[in-house]
Amino acid sequence: MDVIIQSAGAGRAAQAVADFIAQALTDKPNLVLGLATGSTMESVYEQLVRKHQKEGLDFSRCRTFNLDEYVGLPAEDPCSYHDFMRQRLFDKVNIDPRNTHLPDGMASDLDAECARYERLIAASGGIDLQVLGIGLNGHIGFNEPSSAFESRTRVQLLSQVTLDQNAPFFPKPKRVPRTAITMGVGTILEARRCLLLAIGPEKANIVAQAIEGPLTRMVTASALQLHSSCTFVLDGPAAAQLQKSGSYQHGIPGQSAGISLLSPMGTQLSSSASPRASLRSSPDTP
Ligand code: F6R
Repeated sequence: MDVIIQSAGAGRAAQAVADFIAQALTDKPNLVLGLATGSTMESVYEQLVRKHQKEGLDFSRCRTFNLDEYVGLPAEDPCSYHDFMRQRLFDKVNIDPRNTHLPDGMASDLDAECARYERLIAASGGIDLQVLGIGLNGHIGFNEPSSAFESRTRVQLLSQVTLDQNAPFFPKPKRVPRTAITMGVGTILEARRCLLLAIGPEKANIVAQAIEGPLTRMVTASALQLHSSCTFVLDGPAAAQLQKSGSYQHGIPGQSAGISLLSPMGTQLSSSASPRASLRSSPDTP
């Protein structure tokens, strides 16, 4: 696992993630991209939209799979993750809507829907690059504490911490749905590359547990320690409780967009220009 601390601010950390996604997409136009929702991702998507509008970043062959969706919310519901993705990214770039995938939280047979989602990911050749946030309880996707590291896409009961964390996104008196479909920890670990962005002081404690703590199902993000090609990108406040801060890579203020990301082979990958981001190859499906 690589850790990059970007002390120049949350915007710069998000920019580094957006730059890396853009480079990966340029290198592999039919990239299979795993996406997350939540407030952390908003500025990443803003920057990707800007790159599309100003620099012609091309999403026309990209395929996306989101981590999760609430059970019981139609895709048209403004609180659904379908709507979040349309508003923040899909409607603003040249992605083919047929290439964008989220679990269907309205499916009559939810278990069958989870199995279908897994099959769809596999049929696309697997996820090349999975972008992640982290919940206050250490969840990735909606893999709540006690989720097995081998877990697959399934229906998950949401914890009180998550219900409270996501309540501000729901207008009162509407309540956060109590269940969601989420990719499993095992599904996420199969992505060829993982990139987790955490910003803000409220994430500092759980980020330290995920990076420096023991592997535990009680902090599902700690499973990323097992991944051979995973990078945590943190702003200064989110990194504040790391004990071994000197062991990690620090972004240089003023050059923050160009922080480097290391491949599993130790090859220097740049999120700004060259050398190019390298992703292990996946089948070249249309
Ligand atoms: C959402 C998701 C979650 C969020 C996490 C952080 O698709 O997968 O794991 O990434 O809850 O949410 P924010 O960014 O709102 O703090």
